[in-house]
Amino acid sequence: MNKGSLLSLDRLVVTYGAVRAVRDLSFAISPGECFGLVGESGSGKSTALRAIAGLAPIASGNVMLAGQTLMGPRDLHFHRRVQMVFQDPYGSLHPRQTIERQLMEPLRIQRFPDRPDRVRGVIRRVGLPESFLYRYPHQLSGGQRQRVAIARALLMEPDVLLLDEPTSALDVSVQAEILNLLMDLREERVLTYLLVSHDFGVIGTMCDRLLVMRHGLAVEEMSNADLRAGRATSAYARQLLEASRGYHPEALADVG
Ligand SMILES: Nc1ncnc2c1ncn2[C@@H]1O[C@H](COP(=O)(O)OP(=O)(O)OP(=O)(O)O)[C@@H](O)[C@H]1O
Ligand SMILES: [Mg+2]
Repeated sequence: MNKGSLLSLDRLVVTYGAVRAVRDLSFAISPGECFGLVGESGSGKSTALRAIAGLAPIASGNVMLAGQTLMGPRDLHFHRRVQMVFQDPYGSLHPRQTIERQLMEPLRIQRFPDRPDRVRGVIRRVGLPESFLYRYPHQLSGGQRQRVAIARALLMEPDVLLLDEPTSALDVSVQAEILNLLMDLREERVLTYLLVSHDFGVIGTMCDRLLVMRHGLAVEEMSNADLRAGRATSAYARQLLEASRGYHPEALADVG
Protein backbone atom coordinates (compact mmCIF):
# COMPACT_ATOMS: atom_id res chain seq x y z
CA MET A 1 0.00 0.00 0.00
CA ASN A 2 1.28 3.43 -0.95
CA LYS A 3 2.20 5.28 2.26
CA GLY A 4 1.53 8.70 0.77
CA SER A 5 -2.05 7.96 -0.15
CA LEU A 6 -4.88 9.97 1.38
CA LEU A 7 -7.63 7.40 0.98
CA SER A 8 -7.19 3.72 0.34
CA LEU A 9 -9.03 0.43 0.35
CA ASP A 10 -7.19 -2.74 1.19
CA ARG A 11 -8.86 -6.00 0.15
CA LEU A 12 -12.30 -4.69 1.00
CA VAL A 13 -15.18 -7.16 1.13
CA VAL A 14 -18.81 -6.04 1.59
CA THR A 15 -21.62 -8.57 1.79
CA TYR A 16 -25.37 -8.20 2.03
CA GLY A 17 -26.56 -11.63 3.13
CA ALA A 18 -25.55 -13.93 0.29
CA VAL A 19 -24.74 -11.05 -2.08
CA ARG A 20 -21.07 -10.17 -2.23
CA ALA A 21 -21.38 -6.62 -3.47
CA VAL A 22 -17.64 -5.86 -3.17
CA ARG A 23 -15.41 -8.90 -3.25
CA ASP A 24 -11.77 -7.91 -2.97
CA LEU A 25 -11.18 -4.30 -3.75
CA SER A 26 -7.95 -2.38 -3.27
CA PHE A 27 -6.88 1.01 -4.49
CA ALA A 28 -5.00 4.01 -3.17
CA ILE A 29 -5.75 7.65 -3.96
CA SER A 30 -3.10 10.35 -3.61
CA PRO A 31 -3.86 13.77 -2.12
CA GLY A 32 -5.37 16.06 -4.75
CA GLU A 33 -6.08 13.28 -7.18
CA CYS A 34 -9.37 12.51 -8.92
CA PHE A 35 -9.83 8.75 -8.99
CA GLY A 36 -12.68 7.24 -11.00
CA LEU A 37 -14.67 4.08 -10.45
CA VAL A 38 -16.43 2.81 -13.53
CA GLY A 39 -18.34 -0.36 -14.25
CA GLU A 40 -21.72 -1.65 -15.22
CA SER A 41 -24.78 -1.47 -13.00
CA GLY A 42 -24.42 -3.68 -9.92
CA SER A 43 -20.63 -3.89 -10.10
CA GLY A 44 -20.29 -2.51 -6.57
CA LYS A 45 -19.28 1.11 -7.21
CA SER A 46 -21.78 2.73 -4.85
CA THR A 47 -21.18 0.02 -2.27
CA ALA A 48 -17.46 0.85 -2.25
CA LEU A 49 -18.26 4.53 -1.61
CA ARG A 50 -20.82 3.69 1.02
CA ALA A 51 -18.34 1.41 2.78
CA ILE A 52 -15.85 4.28 2.95
CA ALA A 53 -18.56 6.50 4.42
CA GLY A 54 -19.47 3.83 6.98
CA LEU A 55 -22.82 3.15 5.33
CA ALA A 56 -22.23 -0.44 4.17
CA PRO A 57 -21.32 -3.54 6.19
CA ILE A 58 -17.61 -4.30 5.83
CA ALA A 59 -17.05 -8.06 6.12
CA SER A 60 -13.27 -7.84 5.87
CA GLY A 61 -10.48 -5.62 4.64
CA ASN A 62 -9.70 -2.05 5.56
CA VAL A 63 -10.52 1.51 4.68
CA MET A 64 -7.70 3.92 5.44
CA LEU A 65 -7.77 7.69 5.61
CA ALA A 66 -4.41 9.46 5.85
CA GLY A 67 -2.73 6.25 6.99
CA GLN A 68 -5.28 5.45 9.71
CA THR A 69 -7.60 2.49 9.51
CA LEU A 70 -11.21 3.54 9.98
CA MET A 71 -13.16 1.38 12.39
CA GLY A 72 -16.79 1.37 13.44
CA PRO A 73 -19.24 4.19 12.83
CA ARG A 74 -17.69 7.26 11.25
CA ASP A 75 -17.24 10.10 13.71
CA LEU A 76 -17.52 13.88 13.45
CA HIS A 77 -13.85 14.12 12.58
CA PHE A 78 -14.36 11.81 9.58
CA HIS A 79 -17.28 13.90 8.33
CA ARG A 80 -15.18 17.01 8.51
CA ARG A 81 -12.64 15.42 6.22
CA VAL A 82 -14.82 13.31 3.92
CA GLN A 83 -18.17 14.26 2.43
CA MET A 84 -20.41 12.42 -0.01
CA VAL A 85 -22.56 13.69 -2.88
CA PHE A 86 -25.25 11.36 -4.19
CA GLN A 87 -26.74 10.84 -7.63
CA ASP A 88 -30.19 12.04 -6.70
CA PRO A 89 -30.09 15.29 -4.75
CA TYR A 90 -33.86 15.12 -4.29
CA GLY A 91 -33.45 12.00 -2.21
CA SER A 92 -30.57 13.38 -0.19
CA LEU A 93 -32.25 16.70 0.67
CA HIS A 94 -35.02 16.91 3.23
CA PRO A 95 -38.26 17.78 1.38
CA ARG A 96 -39.81 19.83 4.19
CA GLN A 97 -36.84 21.88 5.33
CA THR A 98 -35.56 25.05 3.76
CA ILE A 99 -32.14 24.92 2.15
CA GLU A 100 -30.88 27.23 4.90
CA ARG A 101 -31.94 24.86 7.64
CA GLN A 102 -30.35 21.90 5.87
CA LEU A 103 -27.06 23.71 5.53
CA MET A 104 -27.12 25.03 9.11
CA GLU A 105 -27.78 21.66 10.70
CA PRO A 106 -24.44 19.91 9.95
CA LEU A 107 -22.60 23.03 11.11
CA ARG A 108 -24.57 23.05 14.35
CA ILE A 109 -23.70 19.40 14.96
CA GLN A 110 -20.04 20.18 14.32
CA ARG A 111 -20.31 23.26 16.59
CA PHE A 112 -19.02 25.75 14.05
CA PRO A 113 -19.43 29.27 15.42
CA ASP A 114 -19.58 31.10 12.04
CA ARG A 115 -22.62 29.28 10.68
CA PRO A 116 -24.53 32.02 8.78
CA ASP A 117 -21.36 33.23 7.09
CA ARG A 118 -20.34 29.75 6.05
CA VAL A 119 -23.80 28.98 4.69
CA ARG A 120 -23.90 32.17 2.64
CA GLY A 121 -20.34 31.54 1.45
CA VAL A 122 -20.99 28.04 0.12
CA ILE A 123 -24.31 28.89 -1.50
CA ARG A 124 -22.67 31.75 -3.38
CA ARG A 125 -19.70 29.57 -4.27
CA VAL A 126 -21.90 27.02 -6.02
CA GLY A 127 -23.45 29.79 -8.07
CA LEU A 128 -26.83 30.23 -6.36
CA PRO A 129 -28.29 33.50 -5.06
CA GLU A 130 -28.65 33.80 -1.30
CA SER A 131 -32.44 34.08 -1.69
CA PHE A 132 -32.42 30.35 -2.55
CA LEU A 133 -31.64 29.65 1.10
CA TYR A 134 -35.30 30.30 1.90
CA ARG A 135 -36.60 27.84 -0.67
CA TYR A 136 -37.56 24.20 -0.30
CA PRO A 137 -35.99 21.49 -2.50
CA HIS A 138 -39.10 21.17 -4.71
CA GLN A 139 -38.74 24.85 -5.61
CA LEU A 140 -35.38 24.18 -7.29
CA SER A 141 -34.41 22.56 -10.60
CA GLY A 142 -32.43 19.33 -10.62
CA GLY A 143 -29.19 21.15 -11.35
CA GLN A 144 -29.86 23.70 -8.61
CA ARG A 145 -30.58 20.90 -6.14
CA GLN A 146 -27.28 19.28 -7.05
CA ARG A 147 -25.56 22.62 -6.45
CA VAL A 148 -27.14 22.66 -2.98
CA ALA A 149 -25.89 19.11 -2.35
CA ILE A 150 -22.39 20.19 -3.36
CA ALA A 151 -22.67 23.30 -1.15
CA ARG A 152 -23.59 21.07 1.77
CA ALA A 153 -20.60 18.85 1.08
CA LEU A 154 -18.32 21.91 1.08
CA LEU A 155 -19.52 23.33 4.40
CA MET A 156 -16.87 21.63 6.52
CA GLU A 157 -14.09 22.37 4.06
CA PRO A 158 -13.40 18.65 3.61
CA ASP A 159 -10.33 17.10 2.00
CA VAL A 160 -12.18 14.37 0.14
CA LEU A 161 -15.43 14.28 -1.79
CA LEU A 162 -17.05 10.94 -2.57
CA LEU A 163 -19.10 11.61 -5.68
CA ASP A 164 -21.62 8.93 -6.65
CA GLU A 165 -22.87 9.64 -10.18
CA PRO A 166 -23.24 13.33 -9.29
CA THR A 167 -24.49 14.32 -12.74
CA SER A 168 -26.23 11.29 -14.16
CA ALA A 169 -29.70 12.54 -13.16
CA LEU A 170 -29.13 15.81 -15.06
CA ASP A 171 -29.50 16.70 -18.70
CA VAL A 172 -26.33 17.14 -20.73
CA SER A 173 -25.90 20.94 -20.55
CA VAL A 174 -26.56 21.04 -16.80
CA GLN A 175 -24.24 18.07 -16.40
CA ALA A 176 -21.42 20.07 -18.00
CA GLU A 177 -22.06 23.02 -15.65
CA ILE A 178 -21.87 20.80 -12.58
CA LEU A 179 -18.73 19.05 -13.84
CA ASN A 180 -17.12 22.44 -14.42
CA LEU A 181 -18.05 23.55 -10.92
CA LEU A 182 -16.54 20.35 -9.49
CA MET A 183 -13.34 20.81 -11.50
CA ASP A 184 -12.98 24.45 -10.35
CA LEU A 185 -13.60 23.51 -6.73
CA ARG A 186 -11.06 20.75 -6.83
CA GLU A 187 -8.38 23.09 -8.05
CA GLU A 188 -9.32 25.95 -5.75
CA ARG A 189 -9.64 23.87 -2.57
CA VAL A 190 -7.11 21.14 -3.37
CA LEU A 191 -9.82 18.53 -2.99
CA THR A 192 -9.38 14.83 -3.58
CA TYR A 193 -12.21 13.15 -5.49
CA LEU A 194 -13.41 9.60 -5.67
CA LEU A 195 -15.86 9.78 -8.54
CA VAL A 196 -18.25 7.03 -9.54
CA SER A 197 -19.69 7.15 -13.03
CA HIS A 198 -20.79 4.72 -15.69
CA ASP A 199 -19.85 7.37 -18.26
CA PHE A 200 -16.30 7.20 -19.62
CA GLY A 201 -16.73 10.72 -21.00
CA VAL A 202 -17.28 12.08 -17.48
CA ILE A 203 -14.42 10.02 -16.04
CA GLY A 204 -12.12 11.07 -18.90
CA THR A 205 -12.92 14.74 -18.30
CA MET A 206 -12.46 14.62 -14.56
CA CYS A 207 -10.12 11.84 -13.47
CA ASP A 208 -6.38 11.27 -13.37
CA ARG A 209 -6.79 7.54 -12.92
CA LEU A 210 -9.65 5.11 -12.95
CA LEU A 211 -10.51 1.62 -11.96
CA VAL A 212 -12.79 -0.58 -14.01
CA MET A 213 -14.95 -2.78 -11.76
CA ARG A 214 -16.98 -5.86 -12.47
CA HIS A 215 -18.94 -8.07 -10.06
CA GLY A 216 -17.39 -6.37 -7.05
CA LEU A 217 -13.84 -6.88 -8.29
CA ALA A 218 -11.23 -4.59 -9.81
CA VAL A 219 -10.69 -5.51 -13.45
CA GLU A 220 -8.15 -2.95 -14.53
CA GLU A 221 -6.60 0.30 -13.38
CA MET A 222 -5.98 2.86 -16.12
CA SER A 223 -4.49 6.33 -16.38
CA ASN A 224 -6.34 9.18 -18.05
CA ALA A 225 -3.89 8.87 -20.96
CA ASP A 226 -4.67 5.15 -21.28
CA LEU A 227 -8.35 5.98 -21.38
CA ARG A 228 -8.00 8.66 -24.02
CA ALA A 229 -5.83 6.40 -26.17
CA GLY A 230 -8.23 3.49 -25.66
CA ARG A 231 -5.39 1.46 -24.14
CA ALA A 232 -7.24 -1.16 -22.12
CA THR A 233 -5.47 -4.46 -21.56
CA SER A 234 -8.30 -6.61 -20.28
CA ALA A 235 -10.93 -7.80 -22.70
CA TYR A 236 -13.68 -6.61 -20.36
CA ALA A 237 -12.41 -3.04 -20.06
CA ARG A 238 -11.94 -2.88 -23.83
CA GLN A 239 -15.44 -4.08 -24.39
CA LEU A 240 -16.88 -1.54 -21.94
CA LEU A 241 -14.88 1.23 -23.55
CA GLU A 242 -15.96 0.28 -27.04
CA ALA A 243 -19.59 0.06 -25.98
CA SER A 244 -19.41 3.56 -24.51
CA ARG A 245 -17.73 4.97 -27.61
CA GLY A 246 -20.41 3.42 -29.75
CA TYR A 247 -23.03 5.10 -27.64
CA HIS A 248 -21.43 8.55 -27.40
CA PRO A 249 -18.93 8.76 -30.27
CA GLU A 250 -18.12 12.36 -29.33
CA ALA A 251 -17.69 11.73 -25.61
CA LEU A 252 -13.94 11.17 -25.49
CA ALA A 253 -13.04 13.22 -28.55
CA ASP A 254 -14.67 16.25 -26.89
CA VAL A 255 -12.43 16.32 -23.88
CA GLY A 256 -9.15 15.73 -25.73
N1 LIG B 1 -28.56 -2.51 0.85
C1 LIG B 1 -28.39 -3.56 0.04
N2 LIG B 1 -28.93 -4.76 0.34
C2 LIG B 1 -28.75 -5.84 -0.46
N3 LIG B 1 -28.03 -5.82 -1.61
C3 LIG B 1 -27.48 -4.67 -1.97
C4 LIG B 1 -27.62 -3.47 -1.19
N4 LIG B 1 -26.95 -2.46 -1.80
C5 LIG B 1 -26.42 -3.00 -2.92
N5 LIG B 1 -26.73 -4.32 -3.02
C6 LIG B 1 -26.31 -5.22 -4.11
O1 LIG B 1 -24.89 -5.10 -4.24
C7 LIG B 1 -24.52 -5.12 -5.61
C8 LIG B 1 -23.73 -3.87 -5.95
O2 LIG B 1 -24.57 -2.74 -5.87
P1 LIG B 1 -24.07 -1.25 -6.08
O3 LIG B 1 -25.21 -0.37 -5.75
O4 LIG B 1 -22.82 -1.06 -5.33
O5 LIG B 1 -23.76 -1.25 -7.64
P2 LIG B 1 -23.35 -0.02 -8.58
O6 LIG B 1 -22.10 -0.42 -9.28
O7 LIG B 1 -23.33 1.23 -7.81
O8 LIG B 1 -24.54 -0.01 -9.64
P3 LIG B 1 -25.27 1.23 -10.38
O9 LIG B 1 -24.37 1.63 -11.51
O10 LIG B 1 -26.56 0.66 -10.86
O11 LIG B 1 -25.47 2.32 -9.38
C9 LIG B 1 -25.80 -5.29 -6.40
O12 LIG B 1 -25.96 -6.64 -6.70
C10 LIG B 1 -26.87 -4.81 -5.44
O13 LIG B 1 -28.10 -5.44 -5.70
MG1 LIG C 1 -24.47 2.99 -7.87
